[in-house]
Parts: sequence; C-alpha cells; structure tokens
Amino acid sequence: MSDFTSGFWHWYIAIGTIVSIIGCGVLLWMQTIKRPPKGQQAELHGNVWDEDLAEYNNPLPNWWRWLFYITIVFSLVYLFLYPGLGTFGGKYGWSQAGQYEEEVKAANAAFGPLFAKYEKVDLPTLSKDKDALAIGQSLFLNECAACHGSDGGGAKGYPSLKDKDWLWGGDPDTIEKSIREGRSGVMPPMGEALGAAGVAEVADYVRSLSGLPHDATKAGAGKAKFAVCAACHGADGKGNVALGAPNLTDAIWLYGSSVETISETIRAGRNNLMPAQGERLGAAKVHLLAAYVYSLGGGLPPAPAAAPPSPPAATAGKS
Ligand code: HEC
Ligand code: HEC
Repeated sequence: MSDFTSGFWHWYIAIGTIVSIIGCGVLLWMQTIKRPPKGQQAELHGNVWDEDLAEYNNPLPNWWRWLFYITIVFSLVYLFLYPGLGTFGGKYGWSQAGQYEEEVKAANAAFGPLFAKYEKVDLPTLSKDKDALAIGQSLFLNECAACHGSDGGGAKGYPSLKDKDWLWGGDPDTIEKSIREGRSGVMPPMGEALGAAGVAEVADYVRSLSGLPHDATKAGAGKAKFAVCAACHGADGKGNVALGAPNLTDAIWLYGSSVETISETIRAGRNNLMPAQGERLGAAKVHLLAAYVYSLGGGLPPAPAAAPPSPPAATAGKS
C-alpha cells in the first residue's frame, strides 16, 4: 500500500477506478440494448471495402459479451480482496512487504538451525568447512560484493579483503566486529594546517615510505612535518588498527599512490564508511560471512587471549 501525503489521492484513485469499471459495464450494456429484435437482419453500416466486404452493426457475440462482464466482476471482487483502491488494503490485508517478511520468516525457520550449528564453530576451523564457505560466499555476493568486489578484491576506497593488510585488524574477532558493527575511517583534512607546500612535502615523504620515486629534499622537509600524522599513522608510518589508520609503508593503497591522490587525501581528508551488518543480518550470518572473509587468504591468527594469571613461581629448592 502506498503512503500518500494527502487523503485526496486515496479518493482520486479509488473513485476513478470504480467509476471506470462501472463505466465499462454501462458501455457494454448500452451496446446490448441496441441489439436488433430476434430474427431481424442487422443494418448495414454503409462501409464497404474490397468491393464486397460490408460492415453490419451486429452486436458482440454473447460469449464475448459475457467474457467482458466476467472481467468486470472479477476486477470488483479482486479490488475488494486485495489492495488496489487507494489506501484500502483489501479484505485479506495482503501486502508485498508482508509477503516478503513471511518468506524471510520461513527461510529463517528452515535455515536457522543449520546456521546456529555453524555459529558455535570458531572462524579458523569454519573457514575450512566447504559447506559453510559456500553459504558465506553466496551471502557475500549478495550483501558485500557491491562494495568489496565479487572476489573481495576491493576497489578505490573499498579495502581488499584478500590480503594480509588490514585497516582494523585481521584476527577472527576483529573481522567479525568490522562486519557486525561497521567501521568509520576518518582521516582529518590537513590542508589548512600544512599549507600547500607542506602538503606537497609530506606527500613526498609518504611516497618515500614505500620506496616510490620522490624528491628527497621535499621528503626530508615532509618528514619533520609528519609528526602531526604520527598520532594516527604511527611514528614509523606503519598505521594503527585501533583507529583504522592505514599502513603507509606497504605497497597497498586504499585510494592510490599517485602524488595527486596522496596530496588530495592529506589536503581534504577522507571519510569512509562500512555499514554495520549485525542488526540487519543477525549474528549467525555475520559469523558465516566472517568465516568466508577469513578464508579469502588474509586471515590472521586469533589474538592471544588476555594473559592468564602467571602461575606462582616454583618454590626454590624443591627439585
Ligand atoms: C556500502 C559499501 C560496503 C558494503 C555493502 C560492505 N562494506 Fe565492508 N567496508 C566498506 C568500506 C568503505 C570499508 C573501509 C572502512 C574504512 O575505511 O575504515 C569496509 C571495511 C570492511 C572490513 C574491514 C577491512 C579492514 O581492512 O580492516 C571488513 C572485514 C568488511 N568491510 C567486510 C564486509 C562484509 C563481509 C560485507 C558484507 C556483509 C561488507 N563489508 C559490506 C564498505 C562496504
Ligand atoms: C586522526 C587520525 C589521522 C591523522 C592525524 C592522519 N591520518 Fe591519514 N588516515 C587516517 C585514517 C583513519 C585513514 C583511512 C581513511 C579511510 O579509511 O578512508 C587515513 C588515510 C590516509 C592516507 C590514504 C592511504 C591509502 O592507503 O590510500 C594517507 C596517504 C594518509 N592518511 C596520510 C596522512 C598524512 C600524511 C597525515 C599527516 C599530515 C595523516 N594522514 C594524518 C587517520 C589519520
């Protein structure tokens, strides 16, 4: 059912529809009463084609006329049972959204137990389970491929999920958290703080970090100015997964390594969003997706659990 902004449209559509249907019925009936009395020859219309092809004003054959009446009755019954008349929802209260929700409910009931079984398996193990990966892949193609590419290879601004270079971290829990809660990567604009010359110098320094061709003098000047960047990217430029700040020393670029692109990132900043999926997809699907992402080749070993309390030091002289 549509949400009209004013009640006028409800009546406009409802009355327009009913009047047209009744109008069709009346037109049909008027054609019938013109029917010549039984046994009487229909009149010639006066039009003759191809020498002897004449047109009589015979009424519609009955089977045809009744077919028309049936369609009229059908449409009235249909409009009573199903939505079609403005905002009137129909006796059955059917709606596209309602049908969709019911199908989702049925699918969840059918697949829920299967997904729940996988939910208990840890990612490194699950990422070797062929059946789980097949489900993860089809979910990925539906939910993630538009941004990350159908092979997870990423694109400009959308990180590759296949390599071991992670903005936020590649251990099982972190991957799952990225998917569940989403991520927001914010690089503040530094153009004003650095000035145009400063941006160019720092850009050359950033290029020098990964061995790209650069102007050594400018890069040297940029190095001194990199202090403002170090808070996020680290003094060595190796990045910080707690902030999603990329490693600038590898050959992997989220936006690109050209002087122009790096300068633009520094000058204007970047604001990147990975939408949270947890609420929409539910924990079980997120877990399967995480397993699939983990299997793409970049998954890192689980982060060591918080160090267990150290055992009491062995008492001396016992051995
Ligand atoms: C609307 C586009 C979009 C969709 C859809 C999307 N992502 Fe993302 N994703 C991003 C962006 C952009 C980032 C990088 C965020 C940043 O810059 O910090 C990202 C980051 C990630 C990361 C963290 C990568 C890293 O290097 O730490 C993972 C994991 C991830 N996405 C998985 C998924 C999965 C799985 C799905 C499907 C359920 C998905 N994404 C759907 C845009 C998207
Ligand atoms: C507040 C933290 C912060 C500061 C300060 C910061 N950055 Fe960033 N930077 C980020 C984040 C987060 C990203 C990733 C943005 C995204 O996910 O889209 C980023 C992205 C970048 C990129 C893009 C890398 C790529 O792979 O394409 C470059 C280059 C960069 N920063 C250079 C700098 C330089 C140079 C400075 C100092 C002038 C600086 N940043 C200061 C957080 C910061």
